[in-house]
Amino acid sequence: MKPEAAPDHRREVVSFVRQRARMTPAQQRAWSDFGPRYLLEVPHGIGHGELAATEPLDTAAAFGREGELIVEIGSGAGDSLVAMAAERPDADILAFEVFQPGIAATMIKLDAAGVDNVRIIEGNGVHGLRQLFPEGSLFGIWVFFPDPWPKTKHHKRRLINSNFATLAASRLAPNGELLCATDWAPYAAQMRKVLDAEPLLINDHPGSWAPRPAGRPITRFEGRGERAGRDIHDLSYRRR
Ligand SMILES: C[S@@+](CC[C@H](N)C(=O)[O-])C[C@H]1O[C@@H](n2cnc3c(N)ncnc32)[C@H](O)[C@@H]1O
Repeated sequence: MKPEAAPDHRREVVSFVRQRARMTPAQQRAWSDFGPRYLLEVPHGIGHGELAATEPLDTAAAFGREGELIVEIGSGAGDSLVAMAAERPDADILAFEVFQPGIAATMIKLDAAGVDNVRIIEGNGVHGLRQLFPEGSLFGIWVFFPDPWPKTKHHKRRLINSNFATLAASRLAPNGELLCATDWAPYAAQMRKVLDAEPLLINDHPGSWAPRPAGRPITRFEGRGERAGRDIHDLSYRRR
């Protein structure tokens, strides 16, 4: 089955803000040196991060093979991505990120670590999930330390909500795995509530939190949470 067409994104609430930070000269060099190796071009819309793609991604062409496909949304500076991709050489990992300096930093780390089973798309991962992947096509989806949007008036910006739960479940193959982590306890509770309520998902650890997934390192965001005395919550779900 084909992925869904791009809906009208103009009124959409998104889970990120456009940040002003520019790339450093080293990041600009990395963009031109490593971009051809790691960056995938897909059609963009006019909004920041908006993806206008309507055709499924040719993942065999993107990776030069057909491995088990994992999507990460909000890969930041790539700390989890590079370490976890290195642990899973048989998986093909597609990361979505809207922040260019983060993408450049990720490519520098991928090159330094010699990790080649990762491709990156600059853009909104929700659009990517919806428009680039057919139903039942993903082995895994990862969302680590998504922006917590702590103020009540911003809760609507949180990435993991019930719409996301339905979308993510639909893109996973049977037994495919959704992994999430956050240091923000109220967001962890929201994640568990909406993911538990999604009929296609099964919580691997009902009523409690999941163990840390293999190879997930302590990133800058996690370290900051820990130093502030916040507990880390991992969640792990499977598609029925
Ligand atoms: C708090 S950071 C965490 C980064 C990384 N996962 C980590 O643990 O270090 C959240 C990241 O998600 C990105 N982001 C938020 N919403 C996104 C979306 N819908 N699509 C792609 N990236 C997104 C932000 O730009 C930011 O880099």
